[in-house]
Amino acid sequence: KIVICVAGRFKDEVKGEAAYLAGAEGMIVINEPSQGHTTFSSAHVLPASNIDHPAVLEILDYYYNNQPNAFASIRFNGTQFGFTPSPTVASFSSRGPSRMNGGIIKPDVLAPGVNILAAWHTDVGPNPNPLATHTFNFDSGTSMAAPHVAGIAALVRSKHLGWTPAEIISAIVTTSNDSWTDAGDLIVDDTSYKTAGIYATGAGQVNPTRAVDPGLVFGLTLNDYIGYLCGLGYDDTEVSLTIGKQARCNMVKNLTASELNYPSIAINLTRSTMSQIVNRTVKNVGDAREDYSAKITEPVGVAIYLSTYKLRFTRLNQE
Ligand SMILES: *[C@@H]1O[C@H](CO)[C@@H](O)[C@H](O)[C@H]1NC(C)=O
Ligand SMILES: *[C@@H]1O[C@H](CO)[C@@H](O)[C@H](O)[C@H]1NC(C)=O
Ligand SMILES: *[C@@H]1O[C@H](CO)[C@@H](O)[C@H](O)[C@H]1NC(C)=O
Ligand SMILES: *[C@@H]1O[C@H](CO)[C@@H](O)[C@H](O)[C@H]1NC(C)=O
Ligand SMILES: *[C@@H]1O[C@H](CO)[C@@H](O)[C@H](O)[C@H]1NC(C)=O
Repeated sequence: KIVICVAGRFKDEVKGEAAYLAGAEGMIVINEPSQGHTTFSSAHVLPASNIDHPAVLEILDYYYNNQPNAFASIRFNGTQFGFTPSPTVASFSSRGPSRMNGGIIKPDVLAPGVNILAAWHTDVGPNPNPLATHTFNFDSGTSMAAPHVAGIAALVRSKHLGWTPAEIISAIVTTSNDSWTDAGDLIVDDTSYKTAGIYATGAGQVNPTRAVDPGLVFGLTLNDYIGYLCGLGYDDTEVSLTIGKQARCNMVKNLTASELNYPSIAINLTRSTMSQIVNRTVKNVGDAREDYSAKITEPVGVAIYLSTYKLRFTRLNQE
């Protein structure tokens, strides 16, 4: 009476409805290895449980060794708080590098996007309980992560009305957190529970409270974006369409990705470009007087030198 279904491809609730209509009493949704530890909460029509990958092996082992008399029960154990590791990178999350944007590290940040409980516009579930009115539902994906970041952008903007979009992005990126323990353990990938890495986490999990007070911001002007787009090879018409107003590439200086004053730096190291200089400009948006000292974690095989290891600011908006 309990059906085992493989997670993904289409909505697990729909599988549950098919199982229910065929007389099932319950459903176990099992993850494939690539789905790892990312499990979904859904408005199922029958008792259902989504099992993460390693645990699936135990269940299948039991099932195959005990057919036709395998026995199972599903018990709700209450909402569990403080589950670890958390945050993690969902197994379905997009990974960089982006092949389309010419050298800017992607993703920029991580934001909550799995099993987000939020207001919903229709009845929930394929066979809604009459008591369940059009209220709340779980959903997962970019559609759930993006509003978290939009909300943080709105929060930063409300505290700093004069900040440019680039400064708001900078604030969000530089205050994100790539570790999840006080000991500094790096965020892991749900697929494997191994360190996720920069092309999965970007700068890490966004932090609304810290984003409001980033201390320093990396700024960009409209002309910087135009110069970057022109340098990528877009013509005047394409750049104008992208930025929403008239742009002329011969009026600006082309910028390469690493010249863009972005809050991350990507360079290509080749035999002919073993050593490279990259400039960055930061603006003091903290207190008037602030001292900063550099902390460097070098990628394996790369040495990093700074032109200055301490920055001393004496006034607001000083660059
Ligand atoms: C059930 O909940 C209790 C209390 O939160 C917890 O200690 C226990 O590990 C949970 N059991 C399972 C099987 O998750
Ligand atoms: C590195 O090289 C690739 C391939 O030529 C290019 O797409 C990318 O923009 C380069 N990255 C940087 C930071 O210049
Ligand atoms: C990142 O999160 C960990 C775990 O909560 C915390 O100990 C650490 O202080 C955070 N780091 C920053 C820079 O906020
Ligand atoms: C800017 O970049 C484009 C595309 O790479 C190139 O065709 C153009 O000549 C560059 N302009 C200048 C002034 O270097
Ligand atoms: C970095 O900035 C310095 C000083 O403005 C300038 O001379 C140099 O050409 C810049 N280097 C690069 C790689 O942009």
